[in-house]
Amino acid sequence: MTNKTGGSLRSAAWFGLQDKDGFIHRSWMKNQGFPSNLFDGRPVVGICNTWSELVPCNAHFRLVADRVKRGVYEAGGFPLEFPVMSLGESNLRPTAMLFRNLVSMDVEESIRGNPLDGVVLLCGCDKTTPSLMMGAASCDLPALVVSGGAMLNGNFRGQPIGSGTNVWTMSEDVRAGKMSCADFMDAESCMSRSAGHCMTMGTASTMACMAEALGMGMPQNAAIPAVDSRRYVLAQEAGRRIVEMVRDNVKMSQILTRRAFENAIRVNATIGGSTNAVLHLLALAGRVGVKLELDDFDRLGHDLPLLVNLMPSGKFLMEDFYYAGGVPAVVRALGELIDRDALTVNGKTMGENTADAPCWNAEVIHSRENPLREHAGIAVLRGNLAPGGALVKPSAATPRLLKHRGRAVVFSDIEDFKQRVDDPALDIDENSVMVLKGAGPKGYPGMPEVGNMPLPKKLLQRGITDVVRVSDGRMSGTAYGTVVLHVTPESAAGGALALVQGGDEIELDVEARKLQLCIADEELARRRKAWTPPRPGTKGGYQRLYVEHVLQADQGVDLDFLVGCRGADVPRESH
Ligand code: FES
Repeated sequence: MTNKTGGSLRSAAWFGLQDKDGFIHRSWMKNQGFPSNLFDGRPVVGICNTWSELVPCNAHFRLVADRVKRGVYEAGGFPLEFPVMSLGESNLRPTAMLFRNLVSMDVEESIRGNPLDGVVLLCGCDKTTPSLMMGAASCDLPALVVSGGAMLNGNFRGQPIGSGTNVWTMSEDVRAGKMSCADFMDAESCMSRSAGHCMTMGTASTMACMAEALGMGMPQNAAIPAVDSRRYVLAQEAGRRIVEMVRDNVKMSQILTRRAFENAIRVNATIGGSTNAVLHLLALAGRVGVKLELDDFDRLGHDLPLLVNLMPSGKFLMEDFYYAGGVPAVVRALGELIDRDALTVNGKTMGENTADAPCWNAEVIHSRENPLREHAGIAVLRGNLAPGGALVKPSAATPRLLKHRGRAVVFSDIEDFKQRVDDPALDIDENSVMVLKGAGPKGYPGMPEVGNMPLPKKLLQRGITDVVRVSDGRMSGTAYGTVVLHVTPESAAGGALALVQGGDEIELDVEARKLQLCIADEELARRRKAWTPPRPGTKGGYQRLYVEHVLQADQGVDLDFLVGCRGADVPRESH
């Protein structure tokens, strides 16, 4: 009942007792038909499952869990599957992000309170990956991510269509009168035609790539499609491997080092990854005590080229990415920019895993000599409008708008936006800057993906496809446009965004990393003095806890009391 480093397994504190408590722990488990030899001191592996029919991206996870179990049994472990709250982007309101931290608590306490020696995290839809990694990191047991994989490529009337990205383009086409509503509805079943998560380089795919780049997933974990048989082979191998990790006592903190985060930031830049990865990596680093700052994303990533030609920054989809070589091919292409000594969950270093990784399609995964776009990583902006920082994703933006000064058209919240955006009397043109308030962590609450505000009909009908947009919200990783996000401090916390008035000029200069409200300091101070905070819109419950404790975007939007690792010491007995 010890691991190779001489420590005893946690599970022995439950199943190894020869007394009343041991009886209780074993006897009740035996009602599931587990034979006595499974309680002989072998590693007990939790399979943290986010299966849910309400989360279509994770609806196939029982099959994935079964394959992980096979692997655990093969390696001499005892697998025990357990559910946690699942978060789906397509159904959950007001936003899945509101519950990321809640799920991380669910995961953390489920692991710590139970007889587990290690855990496999089944991740898929956007928030399920960070929330599971954050919760597990606060326990620091051996842990391994198995992603569910992306859907097969969408295909509508012979043309590839990508989750999210083509929802935005087609819905703009409907509003511009270029596509009929009936055709739009026809595309629904053509877009989502197999199990799996969004198959663009949205947040789910990005976070799967981040898990692999961090070393938390086995090689190719991110890109194998959900329905590809190799997804199930990987799950089984992961089951075998987690048992070895428990025996070798390879803790999460040995994988999630500063060098792992730096690798992830660089991979995120070159894959055209989601801006949401910034929040999730900052929050995850906070759980393991790695010092990571918002500016690291700009410093380490901005100057890197875009290598991966996937929507929304490019034209291909995740299936193509897997066939072209996936994350290992990207890591290999990054050469000396990657810390090759970083340890990964399969026991090898990142360098060992990727030294010979082939690229089978240079149109999907470009080389550094022939990139898709230069300087494509996330840029961190500052100025009087965002002293705590704001983000823009140049790879998904219109290059000419990356330096722009325009008149603000201000929406006080998303309801105000929806009510007025298509009003023919709205005073807006292609040079305007659309500003949305009230979409931050406290303000919404939960920081929804509304920053990529749809353009007004009257601009779309004139063929305008992008204008600068600024908000304290997020945008879907599948979205695109010259969209400035995560403005910090947010408007509900008294940030300068709250003080912007219609007609003010706003200057965006990405090269100079500047986001400036062009009014005099005295005027800004006058408005600040007159500003009154919005009345809290929550009725209590979890939302109240969230609003009272949530950190701002530059700190990853974690709850202040969840930051850090609390370990996995065996708790006191329950009886
Ligand atoms: Fe689940 Fe996009 S809705 S990954």
